[in-house]
Amino acid sequence: MLTGKRILLIIGGGISAYKSLDLIRKLRERDAAVIPVLTGAATEFVTPLSVAALSSSKVYGELFDLTDEAEMGHIQLSRSADLVVVAPATADLMAKMVHGFANDLASTLLLATDTPVLVAPAMNVRMWEHAATQRNIATLADDGVAFVGPNEGDMACGEFGPGRMAEPLEIVAAVEAELLDGPLKGKRVLITSGPTHEPIDPVRFIANRSSGAQGTAIANALSALGADVVFVTGPADVAPPSGVEVIAVQTAQQMLEAVQTALPADVAIFAAAVADWSVEGASDRKLKKTKDGLPTLTFAENPDILAHVSQLKTGRPELVVGFAAETNDVEANATAKLKRKGCDWIVANDVSPETGIMGGSENDVAIISQAGVDEWPRMSKDMVSRKLAQRVAEAIA
Ligand code: CTP
Repeated sequence: MLTGKRILLIIGGGISAYKSLDLIRKLRERDAAVIPVLTGAATEFVTPLSVAALSSSKVYGELFDLTDEAEMGHIQLSRSADLVVVAPATADLMAKMVHGFANDLASTLLLATDTPVLVAPAMNVRMWEHAATQRNIATLADDGVAFVGPNEGDMACGEFGPGRMAEPLEIVAAVEAELLDGPLKGKRVLITSGPTHEPIDPVRFIANRSSGAQGTAIANALSALGADVVFVTGPADVAPPSGVEVIAVQTAQQMLEAVQTALPADVAIFAAAVADWSVEGASDRKLKKTKDGLPTLTFAENPDILAHVSQLKTGRPELVVGFAAETNDVEANATAKLKRKGCDWIVANDVSPETGIMGGSENDVAIISQAGVDEWPRMSKDMVSRKLAQRVAEAIA
C-alpha cells in the first residue's frame, strides 16, 4: 500500500495519456494521493474533468494561475510530493527536462523539484530510437531520473517496436519500488542468466535454447523487493531488466570472470544455462571445407561457476541458489546436483521439449534444499520469480 504517499503526476501530451487515467485509479486504490498536472498538449488527449474525478484532486494546468500561486506556489507544489511521476513522458517533455527549460507549469515543476522523478516514456518507435532521444535518456539517467518502460509492441501509429508506455500496473510497481523500502533493501544480489556462446571460429559457436526469460524475471522480482541487483547475462533473447546493473558476456569463462568481479554479494542466483564445454583451440579464422575430410572439434570442460562460488572459503554469499535443467529423474538428479555443487537451494525443472519450458513463458519447478523438496505448481516464469524472491527475502531478512 502507498498510504500517506503523495504523487505529483505530470501527464504529457501523447495518445497513451488515456492509460494515465487508469494509473490514477490504481494509485488511488493503493491509498496514494495523486496531484495531477496536465500539459497543454495532454488536454487534447484527456480532459481535466476525468482527471479531477479520478484523482479527487485539483488539476493543475498548463499556465500559471494567480489563484493557484496564492494557494500553493509552484515551488511548493513541486516539493509537496514524495515522488514526481511523468506519464506519458513525451520526447519533447524529456528534451525540456534535459535542458532545464521552464516555459510551462510541468517543466517548471520538474526543474524546481527536489524529490525523486520517475519517467514513463511513450512515443513513436523512430522517435524513441532517434539519437537525440537516446542521448536525452542517458543524460536523465545520469541525473538520477528513474525510468519505467517503454515496452515493445504494436503502436497506435501502426508501427511496431519499443515506444509504448509501460502498463499502469508496471508503473505502479516502479512507484512502489521508488517509495517503499522492500525487505531486500541494502542486499546485493548477483544473478547469472541466459545461454553462453562458445566459439568454434569467428562466425560459428555452440549455444543452447535458453532465452534468459527466467533469469530476467528473477532480477525484476528481486529488484522490486528493493535488492541491488547485478545481472551477468549471456546473449539472451529477452531484453535485460531495467534499473539493474547489467554485465553482458559471451562465454562461460567470461561469465566466471564477471561473477568474480561482481562479488561480494549477499545472495547469488545462477539461472544461466552455461555451456558445459568450450571448443579447445577455437580457430581465429573461419574454418573452411577441405578435401581432407570433416573438421574435428575437441572440447574442453568449462569452469563450473555455481560450484566455484558455492565452495568459496571466504566471501561466499549467504545464500547460493542453482538451477537444475533436467530431462529425466528431475528430483533425483537435482538432489545429487545440490550435494555435488554445494549450493543451498536448487530450483529444479524439467526441460524436456514436450514441456515447452525452455524458451517458453511458463515453468514448473521444485525447490530442493537440505530441508527437503518443495514442489510448486506450473505457473508463469514471472510468478515463479516473485515466489522465489519472496522466499529469498524470508531466508536472509
Ligand atoms: N552452472 C554453472 N556453470 C557451469 C554449468 C552450470 O554455473 N559451467 C550452473 C547453472 O547456472 C545452474 C546449475 O549450474 O544453476 C546447473 O546447471 P545444469 O546445466 O543443470 O547442470 P550441469 O552442472 O551442467 O550438469 P549436467 O549438464 O550434467 O546436468
